[in-house]
Amino acid sequence: MPKLESDPTISTKGEKQKKNPARFIGSDISDTTYQQIAAILLEQQQFDLAGYKDLCIKRRIATQIRAIRCEDPTSYVELLAADKDEQTKLLAVLSIHVSQFFRNPTMFNVLETKILPELLQASRQTGAKVSVWSIGCANGEEPYSIALLGQKLQRQNRFSIMATDLSPNAVVRAEAGLYSAARLTGVPDELLQQFFSAQGNSYLLEQKVRKQVQFSRHDILIDPAFEPVDLILCRNLLIYFSREQQLQILKKLASALHPGGYLVLGRAETLAPSCRKLFVCIDPAERIYQRLEDTVDIKPAGLGEI
Ligand SMILES: C[S@@+](CC[C@H](N)C(=O)[O-])C[C@H]1O[C@@H](n2cnc3c(N)ncnc32)[C@H](O)[C@@H]1O
Repeated sequence: MPKLESDPTISTKGEKQKKNPARFIGSDISDTTYQQIAAILLEQQQFDLAGYKDLCIKRRIATQIRAIRCEDPTSYVELLAADKDEQTKLLAVLSIHVSQFFRNPTMFNVLETKILPELLQASRQTGAKVSVWSIGCANGEEPYSIALLGQKLQRQNRFSIMATDLSPNAVVRAEAGLYSAARLTGVPDELLQQFFSAQGNSYLLEQKVRKQVQFSRHDILIDPAFEPVDLILCRNLLIYFSREQQLQILKKLASALHPGGYLVLGRAETLAPSCRKLFVCIDPAERIYQRLEDTVDIKPAGLGEI
């Protein structure tokens, strides 16, 4: 039987204490530790944890403390304060960039067959492009899926696609447009063949598609919204926020949509009843909402009347 001492988690309790300092094994951290970590991230990384769901963030921090085999949360605070690399790693853990091309394919089908043709038709009359904003775009999979639909519909020049994320690293990766095969499973074969080329173990999205999307760093909680667009995708982002912050963000999104424009949320996300003055649900299964005509005063800075 192989000796197990090399794996500190398997050695007996006595050995563990002698050979390895005790390691943090909790799944939560105290409020004090949380506040100290929040202060470090705010001061040194300009990342504001206020508004994120405490419990959700605390669990992620605890996971990171365990992952780096730190003794306890107090030592972790000391380490974090002095180590910029660890700050970057923690930020990556806190804002998971999980995404996929054509994530929730039935929603993309509704976009392809109903929403985009309707917006294209309307844009023909005004002469403006169909404007799209992907918020929390992770590594670019979502906005590039829209760009690929534009190619498929042979209307690529009729779209203006903007994509933003809180994480500068995600934005850099998104702009590179390089993906492992595992990330591309949602891409229909004909689009895969036509627009991706193998590069080592990865696949590079063709430059003309990459150029269709303008990426930038933007924090949906604190940065102002852009000029109104026709379609906003804000999927799998609201779940990280408290109800109050969700309302604040939704109000900002309403102000960033033309009346009649569309908002798509993630499968696990819903609109609070108090947002019914702003949006009407047009496809409950796909979480697609339409911005109501200008019947209410939308003040993006606060919660106002909603
Ligand atoms: C789970 S991913 C969702 C990716 C994509 N929208 C999707 O549904 O597949 C959430 C993304 O939101 C970003 N994010 C987190 N907080 C944010 C904020 N305050 N403003 C903008 N983006 C944020 C994260 O960096 C992450 O890339």
